[in-house]
Amino acid sequence: MSEGKVQSMSILPIDKLLGEIEVPGDKSVSHRAVMLGSLNKGQTHIKGFLYAQDTLCTINAFENMGVEILLKDKDVIINGKGLHGLQKPQRTLFLGNSGTTIRLISGILAGQLFETVLTGDEYLVKRPMKRIIEPLKLMGADISSIDDNGCAPLKIQGKELNAIEYETKIASAQVKSCILLAGLYAKGDTVVIEPEQSRDHTERMLGFFGIPVEKEGLQYTIKGVEEILAKDKEIQIPGDISSAAFFMTAGIITKNSEILIKKVGLNPTRSGIFSVLKRMGAQLEFTNYEEQYEPICDIHVKSSALKAVTIEHKEVPNIIDEIPILCVAAAKADGVTCIKGVQELRVKETDRIESMIKNLSLAGVKIWSEADDLFIEGSEEPFRGASFNSFGDHRTAMSMVIASLVADDQCEIHDIECINTSFPSFFETLSSLKSSS
Ligand code: S3P
Repeated sequence: MSEGKVQSMSILPIDKLLGEIEVPGDKSVSHRAVMLGSLNKGQTHIKGFLYAQDTLCTINAFENMGVEILLKDKDVIINGKGLHGLQKPQRTLFLGNSGTTIRLISGILAGQLFETVLTGDEYLVKRPMKRIIEPLKLMGADISSIDDNGCAPLKIQGKELNAIEYETKIASAQVKSCILLAGLYAKGDTVVIEPEQSRDHTERMLGFFGIPVEKEGLQYTIKGVEEILAKDKEIQIPGDISSAAFFMTAGIITKNSEILIKKVGLNPTRSGIFSVLKRMGAQLEFTNYEEQYEPICDIHVKSSALKAVTIEHKEVPNIIDEIPILCVAAAKADGVTCIKGVQELRVKETDRIESMIKNLSLAGVKIWSEADDLFIEGSEEPFRGASFNSFGDHRTAMSMVIASLVADDQCEIHDIECINTSFPSFFETLSSLKSSS
């Protein structure tokens, strides 16, 4: 322990997990609700918002640009300033660990007629930003990497923007969203074409605020607008399927377990984890499906015997954040699971290929990469009790906590405070299930 932060945690193996939980609000949707709420000329009431470090960075950034944002229990109320009402911030905007904030907000700042500087923590400033710098420059924004290394800190002087037609090299919702948000400020039709379908939360949220994004195959078109006039809006944030994935996997790989996870977002561009686990043989059902601006459902999960599968590269964008926990599931499946074309995992919060190979190898799992493919050989043997490291990455930390539940001895997870970036109540939720066993 140091400076009041929990640095490491010991986890004991458990017998079973039983009970009903809710996971916190979806991180991707929470970010977008704050962004569009701030740009809407009216009041936006967000219910079930994810209070976590990443999303609070988004709130902070807009507060620093003069938006009035009230935090009330699980809700957030935003008095939006309109498309052109943001003010130049008095200081550099610090965006913590949040890749979604820095990439999406850059699209918005490209259309503001003032200069901003954006930076983040030691991990964020190593992540590639050329993927947004290039299209925003083509639109006419003056944007540069201050250290000239293609990473943050970024300096953005917004301009009058031109509409562009842009083909992204990678399927990235962050890049697509950055360009679509800049497209709000451009004259005419901005078109983005992506190689595979990435998550569509921005398109849905824009639609919810009355701004249509036309989709034709993998091509998205947005028309520049004068203003967002959705007036007063109420948004219910669905439970985060990426957070639910840890408990889905926990329920599957522990014996005699049965968990109900309520009100989880089941957006088809995000729910690949559900279909992959089903293909692996998981006893997983969804009930109470409701089609809102984002579909939601309850997920019922039971202990299951898993078999290995091959996951194709085109499926990867749909399960991009769930691959670390899928590695844990695959390590308990019969046979060798192959996940093809996972190169994007190297440029997430950390290199998640390296960190999962290091951690699961310590647990006695055969896991390796060949070029851009990842292989995991499953086994019925319990994981070896060991000391794992999150490497500062929330999803790696939570994946290794779940793996530790089925180890043959106590495990240690180091550097776990990063879990607060997306799921501050993770351990509470886990204990609520353990205490019912
Ligand atoms: C996100 C998109 C994904 C995902 C990230 C959140 C978003 O990144 O990994 O955690 O909210 O748009 P890419 O779309 O860049 O792969």
